[in-house]
Amino acid sequence: MSNRMWGGRFASGPAEIMEEINASIGFDKRLAPQDIRGSLAHVAMLGQAGILPAEDVAAIEAGLKSVRDEIEAGSFTFKRELEDIHMSVESRLTEIVGPAAGRLHTARSRNDQVATDMKLWVRDTLDSLDQQAADLQRALSQKSLKHADTVMPGFTHLQSAQPVTFGHHCLAYVEMLARDRGRFRDARARLNECPLGAAALAGTSFPIDRHATASALGFDRPTANSLDSVADRDFALESLAAASICAVHLSRFAEELVVWTSAQFNFVRLSDGFTTGSSIMPQKRNPDAAELVRAKSGRIIGALTGLLIVMKGLPLAYSKDMQEDKEGTFDALQALSLCLAALTGMVKDLEPNAEVLAQAAGSGYATATDLADWLVRELGLPFRQAHHVTGRLVGAASAKGVGLEELSLPEMQEAEPRITEAVYAVLGVANSVASRTSYGGTAPENVRQQAQSWIERLA
Ligand code: ARG
Repeated sequence: MSNRMWGGRFASGPAEIMEEINASIGFDKRLAPQDIRGSLAHVAMLGQAGILPAEDVAAIEAGLKSVRDEIEAGSFTFKRELEDIHMSVESRLTEIVGPAAGRLHTARSRNDQVATDMKLWVRDTLDSLDQQAADLQRALSQKSLKHADTVMPGFTHLQSAQPVTFGHHCLAYVEMLARDRGRFRDARARLNECPLGAAALAGTSFPIDRHATASALGFDRPTANSLDSVADRDFALESLAAASICAVHLSRFAEELVVWTSAQFNFVRLSDGFTTGSSIMPQKRNPDAAELVRAKSGRIIGALTGLLIVMKGLPLAYSKDMQEDKEGTFDALQALSLCLAALTGMVKDLEPNAEVLAQAAGSGYATATDLADWLVRELGLPFRQAHHVTGRLVGAASAKGVGLEELSLPEMQEAEPRITEAVYAVLGVANSVASRTSYGGTAPENVRQQAQSWIERLA
């Protein structure tokens, strides 16, 4: 049998394999709520504009609501021969309402319909991702406030560099997430133009009111060019790009958790709720959730790359290639949502091992820069010369196998005779972090202030 929606000029139905490659119902059925919302807005407008008689509008509206109820109740049967969600809804509508249902598709096409549905879905998803990112920021800010004084090694090249505080490290991720949220909001603002009414590609000769449908669906305005309306998937690309950057942030944090929970580092402890055991090695506490957050960035970035490649060679306007926007976008944004939730759970529960961190913060001559700064500040040495003197002292301490603070004053004075007892005050880790009071620095008082101000902003 040929297709009921477009089969007028076809003598026979599609080949089995044609149906299989063509159908999107398997994955676009999740657009049912958006599709029905769009249709309700469209038919109401057709009525107001005098394009459809009131009784048809009423019948179609009631029918669409029954279809929505059936889908919500799970009693709706999705059929592959109906290709996609748009034709599935319309076909069921026809069974319920009769021939009047055929008037719903006046002055629109599946091309503007699918663009509208996808925008509605992406918009809702960006809003909920923004909220989830805020939840993670809140959890991090609380952890930061609690550990504003907890010292830990700061790294460059994963080599101990200078001591920082655990709270400061948490706040670094709060800042990244703030930028992620800014990108979600920017993407949302740019996508918020309604394609409905662009029809297949050229607009329509019916006297439709695109401003009415745009505003009924919560869009700021209709899209301005009918070709662009149906050919554009920037909103999906942009959301995936924002999601990819966010996923990279989450992945970096997850990587730190994996390293930090290893027996060799032992910097933090994840709760039992976010750790798994090994079926053979009883001692193991594996950070599986963190590893999966790290891994899922792969499919999120993959979805962006995939869609960029789908779009890059397409002539205007719509091509069926664009149906391939869906699975990757759904999957990637859903994966990001899961990652945000899992990381929030991990952060809420995790506890830094303060003693191990303090020990590690002091090892590896992490306060060498403090010594060099002291030589500059107190003795007036040029920084380069102070760096050199400090290097000699690190060499001497390392040869003895002791920390800088364990060198005697005469040993210090061999490298620079003017050094006094006062130098020992800057060599401790706590002194080191407390002195980093420059704006954005790691001093506990800064960290407390910043954490507090984030907590207030996020309240
Ligand atoms: N399922 C299609 C998609 O996702 C809907 C649009 C179909 N349009 C068309 N001209 N065949 O893109």
